[in-house]
Amino acid sequence: TSATLSSIRMSMDIDANAAHHAGHSSPDSSRPDHHTKNSTSWATGRPVDSTPMAASTWTPSSWRERTALQQPTWPDSGAYDAAIKKLSMVPPLVFAGEARTLLASLGRVAEGKAFLLQAGDCAESFHDMGAPAIREKLKVILQMAAILTYSGGLPVVKVGRIAGQFAKPRSANEETVDGVSLPSFRGHIVNDDLFDADSRTPDPERMIQAYQQSAQTLNLLRAFTKGGFADLTRVHAWNQEFVRTSAEGRRYGAIADGIASALRFMSACGVDLSESAPIHQVDLYTSHEALLLGYEEALTRQDTTSATGDWYDCSAHMLWIGERTRGLDDAHVEFLRGVKNPVGCKVGPTVEPDDVLALCEALNPNRIPGRLTLISRMGAKKVGDRLPRLLAAVRDSGHPVVWSCDPCHGNTYTSDSGLKTRHFDEIEAEVVGFFDAHNAEGTWPGGLHIELTGDDVTECVGGSDDLADANLGERYTTVCDPRLNARQSLDLAFRAAELLRR
Ligand code: PEP
Ligand code: CO
Repeated sequence: TSATLSSIRMSMDIDANAAHHAGHSSPDSSRPDHHTKNSTSWATGRPVDSTPMAASTWTPSSWRERTALQQPTWPDSGAYDAAIKKLSMVPPLVFAGEARTLLASLGRVAEGKAFLLQAGDCAESFHDMGAPAIREKLKVILQMAAILTYSGGLPVVKVGRIAGQFAKPRSANEETVDGVSLPSFRGHIVNDDLFDADSRTPDPERMIQAYQQSAQTLNLLRAFTKGGFADLTRVHAWNQEFVRTSAEGRRYGAIADGIASALRFMSACGVDLSESAPIHQVDLYTSHEALLLGYEEALTRQDTTSATGDWYDCSAHMLWIGERTRGLDDAHVEFLRGVKNPVGCKVGPTVEPDDVLALCEALNPNRIPGRLTLISRMGAKKVGDRLPRLLAAVRDSGHPVVWSCDPCHGNTYTSDSGLKTRHFDEIEAEVVGFFDAHNAEGTWPGGLHIELTGDDVTECVGGSDDLADANLGERYTTVCDPRLNARQSLDLAFRAAELLRR
């Protein structure tokens, strides 16, 4: 793998990338016209799909001709253009070959031969960028993956909501407190969460800072996952201190014992594990919501290693479209349809089967397994009613999607204390409803998409500690949505592993 990576690094056409479309440029007429001017593909000579969106030319900036929802109002357009120009010249965070490896792994999930675990913060924070937070988050993800792999008996594809998950969609443009209205907090890539006029003014320099923090985070993740920290022989060491003494911690300890004894058994049988990369290294991929399209466009680069000159959004391995921005003719679908990364799309309770099929056609017209992950976020009460018809429609269409369950975003409410929270029981109930729906339709419940942290926070109520409303204020540190803490995350992984075995 490292040979492949370095050859990709060498041949990435940095100069061509740097020159491309900084700021509000128009589409580059020197690029080959893939679709419209004639009805055959310039690459293959075969007819191309003639549906309206597929018929229009995609370029990294073609989203600019569509409606882009949830974009901040940048007060200083000169500063914005300068920041975007700078970002169009920085090194890519990920390489095309890595995105292709993830695509292949997700293809196995689509076929029912693996399981996807996508997890991390609701919003990463500029105030919390040190090694401990990253390490603790990684530990929980590794623990959950160990539980799912060992008890569920399947390979687990690990994707973090990390190293770039900074931009947040909001239900209102403004927030009003005590009669004062200010721009809503849109994530640290845009403005600050403090409630004063200065903090809430969108500042384009923050996009540069988000890029830099992403690079630093990714650097540490690469070191942790390839440098020994994630070695399976250290499976006990991932158990955090505050988890170890709890019921989940002990249950995890038993699984870690099982893994350790399986490794000893294999060595005793003469299997040499010392050189076996899957034992000593982990592939952890990065992902975030591709919300700020100017930022995403600036980090989109042409892969000169592929004969077709494919474009990759090099801000993360996988990008997804949120529930609020999945309009078929809108800018976010337009942008992501053209990059070759694996992409996700949230689907909530208002989506109809025809909408989902149209999204499949727009985002994965060539029906590549692993290209599209549909992330269902219905809410515990609605999943049983809303999801089965979508599963049936996609199944009957033959589209190879990964179905993943986000049991978080449909179950958020404001508690009596005034803090946003989620109840563990509802999160668990949505996961159960998701598995039930798949069992009924004969489809594969491919994965989980979870908001969590490795810290000992009190943001979601319930779980085996039975956190109550009154506890929420004790350690409530999220800058956006409430996250499962490490114990609650392990609890959920055990439950999902049981459902997988079933
Ligand atoms: C999110 O995943 O943080 C999010 C905002 O989700 P959704 O688009 O499903 O509301
Ligand atoms: Co969230």
